Amino acid sequence: MLTQRYLFRQPSFVTYGFGAAGLVGEEARSLGLERVLLVTDKGVRGAGLVDGIVQALQAAGVSVEIYDGVGPNPETVMVEDCLARLRAMDAQGVVAVGGGSPMDAGKGVAFLATNGGRLQDYIGQPIPKAPLPSICIPTTAGTSSEVTNNIVFTDPGSHLKFGLSSPNCAATRALVDPEMTLTLPPAITAATGLDALTHAAESYTSKGAYDFTQSLALDAIRLIGRWLPVAVAQGDNREARERMMMACLEGGIAFNQSRLTIVHAMSHPVSGWCGTPHGVANAVLLPHVMAFNVPYAEAEFAEIARALGVDTSGMAEAQAAEAAVERVRALNVELGIPEGLAACGVTEDAIDKMTDDALKSGNVRLNPRPVAREDIVAIYRGAL
Ligand SMILES: [Fe+2]
Repeated sequence: MLTQRYLFRQPSFVTYGFGAAGLVGEEARSLGLERVLLVTDKGVRGAGLVDGIVQALQAAGVSVEIYDGVGPNPETVMVEDCLARLRAMDAQGVVAVGGGSPMDAGKGVAFLATNGGRLQDYIGQPIPKAPLPSICIPTTAGTSSEVTNNIVFTDPGSHLKFGLSSPNCAATRALVDPEMTLTLPPAITAATGLDALTHAAESYTSKGAYDFTQSLALDAIRLIGRWLPVAVAQGDNREARERMMMACLEGGIAFNQSRLTIVHAMSHPVSGWCGTPHGVANAVLLPHVMAFNVPYAEAEFAEIARALGVDTSGMAEAQAAEAAVERVRALNVELGIPEGLAACGVTEDAIDKMTDDALKSGNVRLNPRPVAREDIVAIYRGAL
């Protein structure tokens, strides 16, 4: 009999499917918004993905200004800059268009506008007030920021990449439209898709996982194993893009409840100190952390192997679990991910400070295998 009690809360309303992004004007009006700040980055804007959103907002009578100063790893100063812009136009809400960085920046601005202070003030602290209304429109199938309570920033002064987590850090609405990902280049499709795989695999094996989250996470793994290589090879394949968007949604809702393990705890310092893109850092670390965790979660990793399409019939459970690690390694090679962290600019002398930062993550205690400092060091070394 189950004795554990779970609190389940999914804070964002989600509209999913081709054409969802075009509903942004109606969504903004339904939230009572007449003036919004659109938060994005120059790459997304340059790819023309913002134009249709602006038109849809204007057609609904919503006035909009664009802030496109978010970088690939969002820094606290960018959010302060963006907040000044929001205040200058007296915006009532935020529309964030892009991958994880613009969405995290948009969600960060939305809560700072009502709570005051700086992002760093909320590390380990509650965020008491509801944010300004926000609408997130992802342009990658990877981060899941549109459906999570999490935002992640780098403090350029200390290199610390820190996360905040609260229902007040969630988007009010998410418009999840595979159309927005059709022109995403292969390398970014691969890196972001492997971020989604990392979320799902970590969620599935987290100590915070339970039946509901595991169902979603396992289906996300199945979809990614089947469709990510297709999306990378044929970017305009609508079915592949649609399936990847669904996988990202499932994995995001799963890990928003279950939380993660040490892959993200270790990848954030890699990005914080060395600037490595988030998805690439996760992809490189994932098989190393899986190999470390296999002895403590054989049944779960064996399931992951099967979800990734490995025929495990005739294998012992331990062997099937190892096969999951091998499958992820092979997927990395197939999708052009660098073999090790050294190729991503990480040097041996960064390991000590990266380890300090990794150990600050609340996800360390949710890892299926107990983790000591020397374990983190050894995994970083092995992944170099
Ligand atoms: Fe991630």
